[in-house]
Amino acid sequence: MFFNQKTKLLAIALLAVSVSVRAQKVDYSAKVERLLSQMTLEEKLGQLNQYSNASDQTGPITRNSDGQIDEIRKGRVGSMLNVRGAKNTRLLQQEALKSRLKIPMIFGQDVVHGYRVTFPLPLAEAASWDLEMIEKTARVAATEAAASGIQWTFAPMVDISRDARWGRVMEGAGEDTYLGSKIAVARVRGFQGKGIGQLDAVMACAKHFAAYGAAVAGRDYNSVDMSLRQLWQYYLPPFKAAVDAGAATLMNSFNDLNGTPATASAYLQRDILKGAWKFDGFVVSDWGSIGEMIPHGYAKDCKDAAEMAMNGGSDMDMESRCYIENLAVLLKEGKVKEAQINDAVRRILTKKFELGLFENPYRFSDEKREKQVLNSPAFREVARDMARKSIVLLKNEKQVLPLAKNLKTIALVGPLAKSNEDMKGFWSVDWGKNDQLVSLYEGVQAKVGNQAKLLYAQGCGVEDTSTQGFAQAVQAAQQADVVVMAVGEKYDMSGEGHSRSNIHLPGVQEELIKAIQATGKPVVVLVMGGRPLIFNWTADHVPAIAFTWWLGSEAGNAMADVLFGDYNPSGKLPMSFPRSEGQLPLYYNYLHTGRWPQNDSEKQYKSAYLDVSNSPRYAFGYGLSYTKFEYSDLKLSRKNMTDTDQIEVSFVLKNAGTREGEEVVQLYLRDVVAQPLRPVQELKDFRKVKLKAQETTQIRFVIDREKLAFYNDQLDWITQAGDFDLMIGAACNDIRLTDHFTLTK
Ligand code: GLC
Repeated sequence: MFFNQKTKLLAIALLAVSVSVRAQKVDYSAKVERLLSQMTLEEKLGQLNQYSNASDQTGPITRNSDGQIDEIRKGRVGSMLNVRGAKNTRLLQQEALKSRLKIPMIFGQDVVHGYRVTFPLPLAEAASWDLEMIEKTARVAATEAAASGIQWTFAPMVDISRDARWGRVMEGAGEDTYLGSKIAVARVRGFQGKGIGQLDAVMACAKHFAAYGAAVAGRDYNSVDMSLRQLWQYYLPPFKAAVDAGAATLMNSFNDLNGTPATASAYLQRDILKGAWKFDGFVVSDWGSIGEMIPHGYAKDCKDAAEMAMNGGSDMDMESRCYIENLAVLLKEGKVKEAQINDAVRRILTKKFELGLFENPYRFSDEKREKQVLNSPAFREVARDMARKSIVLLKNEKQVLPLAKNLKTIALVGPLAKSNEDMKGFWSVDWGKNDQLVSLYEGVQAKVGNQAKLLYAQGCGVEDTSTQGFAQAVQAAQQADVVVMAVGEKYDMSGEGHSRSNIHLPGVQEELIKAIQATGKPVVVLVMGGRPLIFNWTADHVPAIAFTWWLGSEAGNAMADVLFGDYNPSGKLPMSFPRSEGQLPLYYNYLHTGRWPQNDSEKQYKSAYLDVSNSPRYAFGYGLSYTKFEYSDLKLSRKNMTDTDQIEVSFVLKNAGTREGEEVVQLYLRDVVAQPLRPVQELKDFRKVKLKAQETTQIRFVIDREKLAFYNDQLDWITQAGDFDLMIGAACNDIRLTDHFTLTK
């Protein structure tokens, strides 16, 4: 599985260069104006119209594909999605070039966590807290997609979410605004590289604008209702970060926000995005969301919906056909303005010029390059490295892990131990070839199969309730020196349209774990899934547990690297793991209330549940290592600051163990007294640091006004004089060093 050092260094050097230099942006406004002046109204509306490839729909079928080619030839289709491959995109582009003005199409695809090489889920990558690696995997994904005829990915998804019932948490960066904003920037930079138009770059698309992750009850597509202060404080910043990082496009969201579907929200798309934020790219509607304003009960028909969406600032219509079929009449009736249509067309044409598609419409559709670039060993090595870094070690008592490489017999037990398919996770680009996905069993076999005997027993299915397989699984365990279990969801039990009210381990998997644990053998449980899951008995009784998400192409190899200590796990949870669904939404940066319980026994007249603790099972920022880190010697350069001052914070981190490891040190602040209220803690900075055994280093953070500011009820970005608690730790609930300072006016 390894390859020579030279190709690895070359590939990584290439990637490193590509993320550093940014190409100068050319001004195409004169060319855009000249072309716009030649266009008929129908040709303009064609640019606002996007169709999916009929054979690879990623949403409800809204129409049959008859006549699609004819519409392309007439210039009535400005973009397509779900068309893959240099050959297929070239063939369709040739049809578009038969139109009167020969305006090329843009090809978009959900390259969410890899194109040909599949990376860990975005939520898993967020668990790495490794911004450089996150940028690198987006770079690889862009390089592969752009070699395959695609100029636009519908990623990064930057929706903050605090509710693990929502299936799409797998696609984002978790619950925290600061971490989510940093990751949004890393992914935009990775996708767009040195700038769109480069042959290894694709347009990014920050989605879903906005607040889609706050769907009531975690049920996908459900309503969102929140104060504007909440929206600005927690849900908009990752979008702003993506726009400031140069994201070429945004995608709006299916949800209504405070009674207005996002697709029709002029507040979001015109006032904030194109107004206050001066966004010069374009907004694409999410699949059919313009037409969906009819079932929302916001529009009476497609014409009504088109009027509201255009007035609301949606530029391109994905799949609903409401624009192409109604905007001409709406214009004639004076219900939409020509200036709005021209603005939308300008934004789209500008991106087509920037992509170089007018110079050479086929420049991304080069089959020779496609063959050279896709699925290279170097790219798979990046996938393996990212996968290792995404694994979160939740428990490791009696030093069960790492496993010795000279074990005689290892039992691999559980419904996911031999699964290839599930390793890809939701929103992978499906090649239908599971040989590209390394299973846990294959990874362990490649690592130690030449000296250890591997036993396998499925034990049970993921969801079925049959315990018939238990006996065989127990037998395998009894013959082994150690048991490694692979349990969790199926890959498609999270993702779009896959919310779940019950996020316990499905089926009888926890019963299987109990049966294996009862053998008395050392047991390691690997939990796999696209969201936080609940497995309380396992958490209480099994000595070694890791959460491995869905790790993509190199999943099995990465899990084996961690199991046998070739990589010391460094992941930290980007979302709180609940004890019960009843706690959801659950998040670490909560408000204290007037009655927060001091401990779990305090129930009466407290903001608490009678039947479960308020605390998460596993906290935001939590993750263990095979070594241990010590924090000491905290110093603040001053204990008082004004808005214009800064405080330098420094402390010493030591790897006090016997093996090299990486630690994610986290800085939290609390604004102790404020109006409106501020949370009990908020992540304000972090570093991922690699230290050799016994090595120490000094870590520095800077506290400035930006880290203290917040939105008031008037949506002003303010600070208030007062005291702040400073916390530095290995997790939000594992604080190692504390201090205080005061902001004076
Ligand atoms: C889907 C998703 C969106 C995706 C789009 C195109 O419904 O909501 O994230 O980019 O349609 O596949």
